[in-house]
Amino acid sequence: MEKFANKKIVLAVSGGIAAYKAADVASWLTKNGAQVHCVLTKAAAEFVSPLVLQSLTGYPVVQDEFVTGPGWGIVHIELAAGADLLAVIPATANIIAKIAAGIADDALTSTVLAATCPLFMAPAMNTHMYENPATQQNLQILRGRGWQIMPPDNGRLACGAVGQGKLPAVEAIELELEQLLLAATAEPGRRDLAGKRVLVTAGPTTEPIDPVRYISNRSSGKMGYAVATRAAERGAEVLLVSGPTALQPPDGVRFVQVESACQMREAVLAEYAACDVVIMAAAVADYRVAEPADHKIKKTGDNQEMTLRLLRNPDILQELGEAKQQQFLVGFAAETHNLEEYAKGKLAAKHADLLVANDVSRADAGFDVDTNQIIIFAADGGRQTYPLTTKLAAADYILDAVAARINI
Ligand code: CTP
Repeated sequence: MEKFANKKIVLAVSGGIAAYKAADVASWLTKNGAQVHCVLTKAAAEFVSPLVLQSLTGYPVVQDEFVTGPGWGIVHIELAAGADLLAVIPATANIIAKIAAGIADDALTSTVLAATCPLFMAPAMNTHMYENPATQQNLQILRGRGWQIMPPDNGRLACGAVGQGKLPAVEAIELELEQLLLAATAEPGRRDLAGKRVLVTAGPTTEPIDPVRYISNRSSGKMGYAVATRAAERGAEVLLVSGPTALQPPDGVRFVQVESACQMREAVLAEYAACDVVIMAAAVADYRVAEPADHKIKKTGDNQEMTLRLLRNPDILQELGEAKQQQFLVGFAAETHNLEEYAKGKLAAKHADLLVANDVSRADAGFDVDTNQIIIFAADGGRQTYPLTTKLAAADYILDAVAARINI
């Protein structure tokens, strides 16, 4: 079978001199079985003929948001829907700035804004434009949103200057795309979890000190909500048990709101017997306050110290592991050091089937960011490292690892 059979790729071309090289990339992707849909800015069409791209890919090239034709609804929405990858090659300083600002004033930028798939760009421009703090800050913003950004090469640029800004060799770009495409397996409309009952926990727990104060942690809930979202989209019947977060419950998911670890435990145990898969993405507090006050605690006189006695919370995942029947259990480990050793220890101690580990000391993985870089350890000895990607794409990796093991 061809390497990229069933992959839908949006190749977004912006208007730099390197735009003509996008034709080679389009040709290579097509030869390997992908459906390649090109979207061009007006300036790009000056550098590379849309007819070339159309002939190479066999699909109409989109340049205008307002075109209609058989099979086309709203063009940028249709283009983005179900894509496995969106790649901007080359990305000019202008298009990078527009994407970073969320501007959607042409077919390319509107498609980018509507895309929920893994995102890639290969910037190419004059060295000074690349090094300008505005461009660098924009790239930083995009990295923070999960874009995979390939740094430009050093060399002689079209403007005659020598420095960084050159589009990398097409073969090098192809290697990057291949890595992303083979890692991202989500096929459009795939409902491989239909009929499965999946319980997901997410967010922090809060452990009350008194009616106005609590102990908690920095979990945003984004990873767990992403897992619940994708599991529901892939056809599962999903129950999301969430600690307090600022997020909206995903569509099509049964939602139970809890605060403390003990409440989370009760909510999970009440549903456990009927579950096929439990994914414990919540950052459950390990300790709770032994005697929370029923009134607001007041400062007293000149007392400069206060002691809270803490009790160990029940370990929900461990309890589920010990009572396991048909359920497939997935735990998480957020570590700052000795990741592999701790992750494997947790996998065994909690009788989980998979342990999803991430290094929260990285700025682009872990708490309150939209990206994650995960390693999955399996009780069957499997171990796989995934590329840095959006939390939604990471959720798919996790669900792929589950689906592969529960025989669907
Ligand atoms: N977990 C749980 N109940 C707890 C604590 C954690 O179910 N009381 C689950 C989490 O949802 C996660 C995994 O166990 O899936 C995390 O393991 P844990 O060892 O508790 O993580 P840390 O508290 O970060 O571990 P440590 O203090 O050992 O670093």
